[in-house]
Amino acid sequence: MKKLLIAVILLLGGLGVVSCSHKNKSMNNFTFNRPSDSTVTRKVNSLLGKLTLSEKIQMLGGTGFTTQPIKRLGIPPLKMVDGPLGVRASEISNGTHWRATAFPSGTAMAASWDTTLVHNTGVALGEELRGEGQDVLLGPNVNIARNPRAGRTFEGFGEDPYLTSRMGVNYIKGLQSQGVAATVKHLAVYTQEYHRMFINSKVNRRALHEIYFPAFKAAIHQGHTLALMSSYNKVNGVYASEDHYLLTDVLRNEWGYKNLVMSDWGAVHATMPTETSGQDLEMPTGRYLNASTIKPLLASGKVTKQHINQQVRHILRVIVSLGLMNHQHQKDSTLVNNSAHRKLARKVAREGIVLLENHHNLLPLDLNGVDTVTVMGPAAKHVMRGGGSSEVQPPRQVTPWQALTQRIGQKVALKYIPGVMTDREAPAISGKQLYTPYNGGKMGLKGEYYANNDFSGSPVVTRVDSAVQFGAGSGGSSIGSIVSKPDSIFNNGFSMRWTGSVQVPVSGTYVIDVTDNNGMRFYFNGKQELQAKLHYGVAPHDYKVHLKAGKKYPIRLDYYSRGSGVHIKLGIRRSNAYLIKKAVQAAKSSKLVLAFVGVNSNFASEGHDLESLRLPDGQDSLLDAVTKANSNTVVSVSDGEPLVMTPWNRQAGAVLDAWFGGEETGNAIADVLMGDYDPGGKLPITFPEKWSDSPAAKTYKQNDSTAVHQEGIYVGYRYFDEHNIKPEYPFGYGLSYTSFSFSNIKATKQDSTVKVTFTIKNTGKTAGQEVAQAYIHKENSSVKRAPHALKGFSRVHLSPGQSEKVTINFPRSQFAYYNTQHKKWAVEPGAYTILVGSSSRDLPLQTKVSW
Ligand code: BGC
Repeated sequence: MKKLLIAVILLLGGLGVVSCSHKNKSMNNFTFNRPSDSTVTRKVNSLLGKLTLSEKIQMLGGTGFTTQPIKRLGIPPLKMVDGPLGVRASEISNGTHWRATAFPSGTAMAASWDTTLVHNTGVALGEELRGEGQDVLLGPNVNIARNPRAGRTFEGFGEDPYLTSRMGVNYIKGLQSQGVAATVKHLAVYTQEYHRMFINSKVNRRALHEIYFPAFKAAIHQGHTLALMSSYNKVNGVYASEDHYLLTDVLRNEWGYKNLVMSDWGAVHATMPTETSGQDLEMPTGRYLNASTIKPLLASGKVTKQHINQQVRHILRVIVSLGLMNHQHQKDSTLVNNSAHRKLARKVAREGIVLLENHHNLLPLDLNGVDTVTVMGPAAKHVMRGGGSSEVQPPRQVTPWQALTQRIGQKVALKYIPGVMTDREAPAISGKQLYTPYNGGKMGLKGEYYANNDFSGSPVVTRVDSAVQFGAGSGGSSIGSIVSKPDSIFNNGFSMRWTGSVQVPVSGTYVIDVTDNNGMRFYFNGKQELQAKLHYGVAPHDYKVHLKAGKKYPIRLDYYSRGSGVHIKLGIRRSNAYLIKKAVQAAKSSKLVLAFVGVNSNFASEGHDLESLRLPDGQDSLLDAVTKANSNTVVSVSDGEPLVMTPWNRQAGAVLDAWFGGEETGNAIADVLMGDYDPGGKLPITFPEKWSDSPAAKTYKQNDSTAVHQEGIYVGYRYFDEHNIKPEYPFGYGLSYTSFSFSNIKATKQDSTVKVTFTIKNTGKTAGQEVAQAYIHKENSSVKRAPHALKGFSRVHLSPGQSEKVTINFPRSQFAYYNTQHKKWAVEPGAYTILVGSSSRDLPLQTKVSW
């Protein structure tokens, strides 16, 4: 019986994966005909019959960002590029590429609660991928935001499995309509960057199935994803890439997934357990999956030929499904960062903006009688975004300052003051501020460059550098290009040493900042004051010191790496206390203050978690002081995750969360500030009043090896609701410039679907948007369940006075919980309440149904 059930599930899953040839049209009339499943199977079988065993084994390991081609049979490589927030063309090492559109963060997309918009974003990403001549995008990221401090929270779609599933499925469908493959990642329970390569996510089975798996399952059954990436971490003691339960029992057998499973980059740790787990492809190279490691296992019978056939079959299925045996995508610059995509990026950014506070209707802005507006904060003149493999550097981007200058610069005087300065903005120390006695005495520092990573022997280059600022982006420039020597002489790494002195024209407290991507030591006055060990990503390190005008202070900076990517900056800025004092003076004399604050990739990034949920670099103190000085302050926050905002959010006139809004963020924010567009975004993640309220806080960094998910299924709002903790802003929350009423709820049951209808009316004076959210609660549940869980939503646009009848259908499966004893989903008989409203904590409508 059980076998029969599995066979049926497999069949259904299989049908779901590639059901028939579906036609899809993109914005530029491209049509992709995906071959039927039987055609794919036939072609793949034929190729498998022709491949030698050695060729098959060769295909199990990648080569950088591609799979291994087999030229003899015309099997092309699968070319992959990082996503998910843009086609990260900088990863493509060979040939021309154009710089892609930087779309808003996943949290911004999810905050739109607009599945069509996310589908269209997928289409645009697919077009750009095609335009770059590439085949596979490494996204979407559907990991659940259990820990708001996780460095990659911004990439994903928030904390709820249902919302994440809807977003993921639509993203994938849009993307794959362009004849390219999505890679849903990272399976599974990848919830923090801290020790991400080794951490063991200890989590119960029910939470796996109810919280962490649904978006992957939906990506397979509804999104028909062609590829999936397993994660770095361990799940209940086993590395994801070696996890037979995860990759075979659940993924293959239960869900019927037939396509490619690739490892994350460097996530494979051993041959045998990976080979037999259900993993197909080791990336970026076949370090553990290669002829010398696999052939002995074949000889001893521990690994079978059938098994290798199965792995290669999954890789070939992607190649054949995309039609790549016959035709490769042709590069086409008109598909990359074109005006349609920029327009779309602006729409996504705008629809995702969440209005958190609007005291006395300060927004939309009324500039009558205002002649000067004070603009401040690090996000005014910078586009904030998260860092790591998803970071896209677009060819152009619009800051709030640029957008406002264009929009209102004619009508009012815009006055900019920094307020605080982040390390990103801190200018490099240069010119008259640096001096070296070397070579007769020069302005600048003596730079010594070594072809090893420990300063041994003689430097290969010695010169004077007028400033220390080399490399850009997380990868940085190569050392060879910096010293005009071949990169090959630095095969053993490099080290650089700068010596000299620093002086400033005005006495005061300064912050000397070293931003680097490797190992570093900084000495001031002969004493080591900063140190960084070899690390991943770019990180700032600050040294605060009082400097007397005109005095020369000796400094030395050592920077070293085993690789060749350089990113180093020696910067300086006035202390924030000084800048804040200036900002308060300006705020006091202004009618209106616009403060643009946020976090950037120094804080939110792959490779490290956020040190706190508070705004960094003194921005909290700035906002506290400025909102006290002038309550007519509008705060626009750029972030990728929740932030703790008290007390300034309660003192400010208005607060909006603009997320990491991508390259059009400035225009999108201006659209909302000026009232051209009603902010209809809703939070896809709970904003706690304080970090310790978050369930993850209880065990975070408790030890270096295990992340104990002691909260089980109570992730996000489920936890806050279960424990009666008041969040600062609940899941699903967001204000509008107008108001809405909810009425007339009715539920009808037909066969295995409950149909719920209700009416939303725009009761205000302007057109606006509301996201109606429907949650399910089980009455007298015999098992522990969340008080209520999101199971449906609909975003509606209404003119003043207009009403709309909204229908949401709930298939019976939406009422189920995962029964760990029977290892299957079960619907408990009895009464359920369906609650409808405008956020998880504002649910005025209720109706009951029974199963
Ligand atoms: C990340 C993946 C990414 C891969 C390739 C890994 O470090 O976890 O999300 O796709 O690198 O850049």
